[in-house]
Amino acid sequence: MNARPEAASQPIRLADYRAPAWRVERVELDFELGIDAAEVAARLLLRRDPAQDEPLRLDGENLELLSIALDGRPLPVDAYRLIDGGLEVDGARDGSVLETRVRVHPAANTALEGLYLSGPRDTGFLLTQCEAQGFRHITYFLDRPDVQSSYSVTLRADRARFPVLLAGGNPDGAGELDGGRHWARFVDPHPKPSYLFALVAGRLERIERGYRTADGRDVQLKIWAEADAIGRCQYAMDALERSMRWDERVYGRNYDLDVFHVVATHDFNMGAMENKGLNIFNAKCLLADPDASTDDEYRRVEAVIAHEYFHNWSGNRVTCRDWFQLSLKEGFTVFREQSFSADMNSAPLKRIEDVSLLRRAQFPEDAGPLAHPVRPAEYREINNFYTATVYEKGAELVRMLAGRLGEEGFRRGTDLYFARNDGRAATIEDFLAALGDANGVDLTPYLAWYGQAGTPRVRAQGAYDAAQRTYTLTLSQHHAPSARQPHKHNLPIPVKLALFGADGRMLPMQMDGQTPASETVVVLADAEQHYVFRDLGERPVPSLLRGFSAPVILECDYTPAELALLLAHDPDGFNRWEAGQQLALRAHDALRDGAGPHGVTAWCDALATLFDDPRLDAALLADLLTPPGEVELAEREPLVDPEHIHALRRQLQLRLATRIGRDRLDARYRRLAAQATAALDAGSQANRRLKQRVLQLLALLDPALACAHAAAQYRDAPGMTDRLGALAVLARHDVARGAEPLAHYRARYADDPLALDKWFALQAQLPGESTLARVQALEADPAFTLKNPNRARALLGTFASGNPTGFHRVDGAGYRLYAERLLALDALNPQIAARLATAFNGWQRLEPQRREAARAALASLAACDKLSRNLAEIVGNMLKA
Ligand code: BES
Ligand code: ZN
Repeated sequence: MNARPEAASQPIRLADYRAPAWRVERVELDFELGIDAAEVAARLLLRRDPAQDEPLRLDGENLELLSIALDGRPLPVDAYRLIDGGLEVDGARDGSVLETRVRVHPAANTALEGLYLSGPRDTGFLLTQCEAQGFRHITYFLDRPDVQSSYSVTLRADRARFPVLLAGGNPDGAGELDGGRHWARFVDPHPKPSYLFALVAGRLERIERGYRTADGRDVQLKIWAEADAIGRCQYAMDALERSMRWDERVYGRNYDLDVFHVVATHDFNMGAMENKGLNIFNAKCLLADPDASTDDEYRRVEAVIAHEYFHNWSGNRVTCRDWFQLSLKEGFTVFREQSFSADMNSAPLKRIEDVSLLRRAQFPEDAGPLAHPVRPAEYREINNFYTATVYEKGAELVRMLAGRLGEEGFRRGTDLYFARNDGRAATIEDFLAALGDANGVDLTPYLAWYGQAGTPRVRAQGAYDAAQRTYTLTLSQHHAPSARQPHKHNLPIPVKLALFGADGRMLPMQMDGQTPASETVVVLADAEQHYVFRDLGERPVPSLLRGFSAPVILECDYTPAELALLLAHDPDGFNRWEAGQQLALRAHDALRDGAGPHGVTAWCDALATLFDDPRLDAALLADLLTPPGEVELAEREPLVDPEHIHALRRQLQLRLATRIGRDRLDARYRRLAAQATAALDAGSQANRRLKQRVLQLLALLDPALACAHAAAQYRDAPGMTDRLGALAVLARHDVARGAEPLAHYRARYADDPLALDKWFALQAQLPGESTLARVQALEADPAFTLKNPNRARALLGTFASGNPTGFHRVDGAGYRLYAERLLALDALNPQIAARLATAFNGWQRLEPQRREAARAALASLAACDKLSRNLAEIVGNMLKA
């Protein structure tokens, strides 16, 4: 069992940051590895800051101290003390060497933090996870990112049980030991913070590729997986090579060790981890093959590989001073990955995907009781702050800065940032200073974005003066006060815009003192500003916030005709899609308010016209045919009834399907189905995406016909995208007919955990109150376990976050079951329990009956006295506001 730090512990505050009084210059680690017990010997060369007079306090949790010596002499028991969360040592000086020996228990470690076992005890392998504070579960240390040390790591283990021994850094010798044991040593030439330490030991296979960096270093790229998975690593290897080339070309960043290892595990709390020279991946984010992976999963693997690789510079070479600066590495790296993925695939589709995620995950977070700034001011449990705000909003802030500086200016800025801060632990201020200094601009006004929670609203109003031939655009910004930040500042908000004529052509924009342009960026800095465009012969239609130039909610009273014009003509692919989304929202509101069918027709007519437009990319059409999701719709309502929202959205899609017409949908489906292929090129992926969307729309109009198509598609599917898509349509629209292919899939993939996760998730998503019973039945499936994070997320996480009508049953049974499971999960894995608990976000705006049931479920959790700090913080915040 884990020792529980007191749940009511004091928060950590950014304002209290102090440079470390002690550092570790060098660390030598020696591991005696075993499944049940491992012994860790650590030799630390200590440095003291002469300006501070603090005792030596090392972090350490769940460690069994076996021996301790200072400067070669065993320490008497009165010269050190075990304190809450660590160890205090007397008598250390600058230059002292502290030696400790501890025992840890990998197989009993269900929290998957520190050293743990992945898989069954007889065949599984050992690995570590240290970010953010897992290293203290391995040895006593100064476990904070501003302490950077040189690592030399020796691993010893039984050769038959652990044939492969890996740690970060370059290999530095290996050999045999007595009794069938062996050893291997790794030395990392780059000083690093402890959260980037990693080791892996066990039976693993590998694929390998040689790579020469742009600056001439020969690197061995090695991807490791268990024998049954090694055949699915090729795509990740290709993606890795693309990522490395891209970072050389776009950011001038080269890899800096002789080896780069990537390891796949099925037991992982997160998606992947950027440990120096030894990235560790959730198998879900690494393995890919056509028979078992969907197109979305392929793109995800490419994105995660890129993200973790890019951290080698944005995170590892330049790390964070403290965990409040987390977005310095995560927001920047997400932005780097987004740019890479946009370059590798379709840029507008990537932008649509990222903004959709922002709206689905970050906007609700920013509007609810868990709201926090991109750089939080305080936390109790740092693992709870790997959030959509730190990641996705953080990436949007970097995007704004990059847009402000332009491509070349941004590159000058990042070059200076990497040069100035290489080997250092930096802050958000360091980032803004480097970007600004390299370009002679002052970016400090943007710092306010990092300190303020909440999504700004921007209101736009246009006025055309025919006599003066001028168009005046008035922009204003609005910030709702929040509990912790009652007074908000105005922010610099870049609004990229263009003007369109009634014929759909872009109009040249003439502003005072500027050269005419077809697109411009205005930065709204005050509460309200006016922008005057001259020499316009007609009232223009503005295309605002192009490419989503700032993470705000834009309010503009477009007429449906104006939106339809942008939807038909805007060359900015993102804004084109956005115009469609806004039209869909108008249609939704008309349905909701009973405004009559005409309110819906503008959206349906526009899409019915585009439906057969041969110039339109199939994937973009698929996205255009998809109205905002239920979460986004709920965000706009003062009082939320998930059942009603679901019904409205279904109605909306039914209207669209009806307007396009059964025969056209059927014909389009048949044409797309005739081209079915396993190929992964963009065109084939786009066809599959559109095919699925068309099938879903057809299923609303004519379920029998759609299910007949789906049954054939399931049977003949050349790959997972088609197979899973067909299965979802069958399970949703014909329960009786869905049962057989569901059973078939279950048997076909009985030995493939990732494919089984999709089977659990698909069923957890089926709308309606009866899904709760299905979830409970699935919990009894022999393959279900709370111990595996992927499995728990697939069934319970998907149910709570991906199934509004199921989770939000009006009788509250969904909430009660979920709260019970969170409690059970918390005893095993607090990080996962806390993360899944965020599904309750938004409960305060539910209609009264559900609100009371959700509150009661949360209160029942809060009343438990043995909650982890992780879960206690989330539940506490959730009930606070
Ligand atoms: N550094 C994180 C992984 C991490 C997060 C470890 C929190 C420990 C605690 C990694 O770089 C990351 O951000 N991973 C993401 C995926 C990425 C593509 C956004 C993840 O794991 O979800
Ligand atoms: Zn990351």
